[in-house]
Amino acid sequence: MTVGQQGTRTSARRVQGNGVEGNGQGRVQFRHLYAPIADELAAVEEILRRELRSRFPFVDALVQHGIRLGGKRMRPALLLLAGQACGQLNDEHVLLAAVVEMIHTATLVHDDVLDEASLRRHVQTVNARFDNEASVLLGDYLFSHAFYLASTVGSTLACQHIGRSTNIVCQGELLQIASRGNFQLSEMQYLRIIDGKTAELCACSCLLGASYAGADEKRQQSLRRFGRRLGIAFQIVDDLLDLLGDEDQTGKSLGSDLEKLKLTLPLIRLLDVADAAECRQVEEIVHLPAPERREALFPLLQRYDALEYARTRASRFAERARKELAKLPESAAREVLESMTEFVIARQH
Ligand code: IPE
Ligand code: IPE
Ligand code: MG
Ligand code: MG
Repeated sequence: MTVGQQGTRTSARRVQGNGVEGNGQGRVQFRHLYAPIADELAAVEEILRRELRSRFPFVDALVQHGIRLGGKRMRPALLLLAGQACGQLNDEHVLLAAVVEMIHTATLVHDDVLDEASLRRHVQTVNARFDNEASVLLGDYLFSHAFYLASTVGSTLACQHIGRSTNIVCQGELLQIASRGNFQLSEMQYLRIIDGKTAELCACSCLLGASYAGADEKRQQSLRRFGRRLGIAFQIVDDLLDLLGDEDQTGKSLGSDLEKLKLTLPLIRLLDVADAAECRQVEEIVHLPAPERREALFPLLQRYDALEYARTRASRFAERARKELAKLPESAAREVLESMTEFVIARQH
């Protein structure tokens, strides 16, 4: 079973494909999947612990709340695995892996303000536990610290790539805000948004891993494409989880896409294929209170196979990501990257 086939947020599914357990916090479940880079990931955790400290108790509590918890650590893993698949890992990889996780966490802290979310990584969001002001500043703190750390690497290359990508991530979130309530949003526009807000950082992580392992330009670009396609598949599935997932399993607030009138692929597909009267009906349904909205929307989504359509689109992006890996020499790291193309589709968290 893949995401969305259960149609309820209450089922307690605990094991999914690839032997990835789905019942707790992210890192634990990935232990086996990330085996070839376990030592480096432990070093990343150590950097995060060491760097995110303050002598002021309030700031200390805030930064620790923001970073130390759960999370799948997918961007650091992508950076390290891409590096290992291309050559030798070094200290720069480990540092940059911590940097991309800091950037990712900063975007989550800010995103939870935008989405008015209350749950993240199985605990209260920073905005719920503290407030929006603290969240804005914590996000800024994480961004600026990430760039400070990236600047300590020998070359300016990492700063250039990470700066550019972070800018594109923000642009993606801005495009999404600008598209709120737009029932004419096309699939192409949607893909542009998720390419920016999610796939870009995955692409950047893979590129950095390859680049700091000394891979040639062609291989760097191939891994960047891999990260981008994987990231797009990951976000399409995330959007399915937002509609259909289980908050106990994802550990984060769900349902906010519709609440905030952000159209995602199943709805875009439905509006593409439904007749004019049904499209008007969808617009009315979206404005209903959450539980009624869900009840009313499902029959329509099912009638037009809109959920299946989105799952198939995600699978195609994952397949296209996998094709890039075929160009790499065989290695344990490549195998894990291959498994990740399956995990992003099967995940329930
Ligand atoms: C959440 O990313 C934000 C999206 C791009 C959907 P993750 O699902 O990787 O979040 P963590 O790091 O595991 O908490
Ligand atoms: C946000 O997308 C992705 C970011 C780049 C922060 P979502 O709003 O779907 O992420 P979640 O579902 O809150 O993790
Ligand atoms: Mg969100
Ligand atoms: Mg989401």
